[in-house]
Amino acid sequence: MKRFNRLLFAAVVSVGFISTAVNPAFSAEAIKIGFVFSMTGGAAAYGATQKEGAELAVEQINAAAGGVKIAPIFEDDASVPQQGTNVYNKLINGDKVAVIIGPTLSNTAKITNPIAQQIGVTVLGVSNTAGGITEIGDYIFRNSLTEAVVIPNTIKVAKEKLGLKKVVLFYGNDDAFTKSGADVFRKVLQAEGIQILSEQTFAKGDRDFSPQLTQIKSQNPDAVVCSALVEEASGIVNQARQLGIPKTVRIIGGNGFNSPALIKNAGDASEGVVVGAAWNISSTSPLNVKFVDDYTKKYNRPPDQFAAQAFAGVHIAYQAAKAADNRKAIRDAMVKIKGLDTLLGQFSFTEGRDADHTPVVQEVKGGKFVVFGN
Ligand code: ALA
Repeated sequence: MKRFNRLLFAAVVSVGFISTAVNPAFSAEAIKIGFVFSMTGGAAAYGATQKEGAELAVEQINAAAGGVKIAPIFEDDASVPQQGTNVYNKLINGDKVAVIIGPTLSNTAKITNPIAQQIGVTVLGVSNTAGGITEIGDYIFRNSLTEAVVIPNTIKVAKEKLGLKKVVLFYGNDDAFTKSGADVFRKVLQAEGIQILSEQTFAKGDRDFSPQLTQIKSQNPDAVVCSALVEEASGIVNQARQLGIPKTVRIIGGNGFNSPALIKNAGDASEGVVVGAAWNISSTSPLNVKFVDDYTKKYNRPPDQFAAQAFAGVHIAYQAAKAADNRKAIRDAMVKIKGLDTLLGQFSFTEGRDADHTPVVQEVKGGKFVVFGN
């Protein structure tokens, strides 16, 4: 019936009877989805694999017989809020998309998402993990597990396996995600009775971390707990080992560390780094096995968590949008998604429109992220 209505609507519109009622985001042929990923700038390592994961999902959905297709529009937010704002305005007011997936960074989402909320366009974050994103409003959703969910598990497991008693907390003090991660680390470390010897900070774009790391070394911590995005994380990991902080002093990171770019940039220095995550490649669910296989065939290398969450995000947004014929109907359908079979597991949103599944702890071993302790 819905499909019939859509066709009828398109037919009526095409002969011009009710042209003022046309919402070009919705046609019988395709659902316009806007993607806002960081293809350039500091977060480009994440954006590149997000785009690949999303493109694979779109390609497979569009190849399936019969269903409504997706018309994707990809935009680069350049890892900065201002460009995120520009492309959000273009997608919402110019392209008149039905739904937006992205932006990559929480720091950008804090600025862009209120634009979509105000107009009533559904946003699905697929990598934002800072606190306070979905609180922006009832059109804002995400499938990326927050730092608040991932970090308590990371610290609990790390404490058990490594016997942590005293650590240093090192974080970026000018980014929504790195600050939020540090807040969660601090709270959880305190709750676990692990002493924080000192807090050290850096700023986005810093290249030299030796002053902080020299101080950290002199404090002789059991581990360095670090909230950083991948560019700075790579420099920190590299320089920590160069300055002689031994690999027995683990570096423990949050979502920003969870990119193969960390391993590529820091090389052998990244061995032993502990990283909390929403997804690990070894998950044996049939949908994940198929995804890993399809992705590896298409791109000649295995996927990362950012690709996996973007792939799952397309399926979630498509599920909500495929039967909807206006923007509000998409939001209402998103809320109703329950137990959708995705590579992240049976997916449902929490009441606060966040993801809800079990986190995992990984370590870098042999140049790969493997489940910690395996
Ligand atoms: N998880 C990172 C963020 O939220 C990419 O900014």
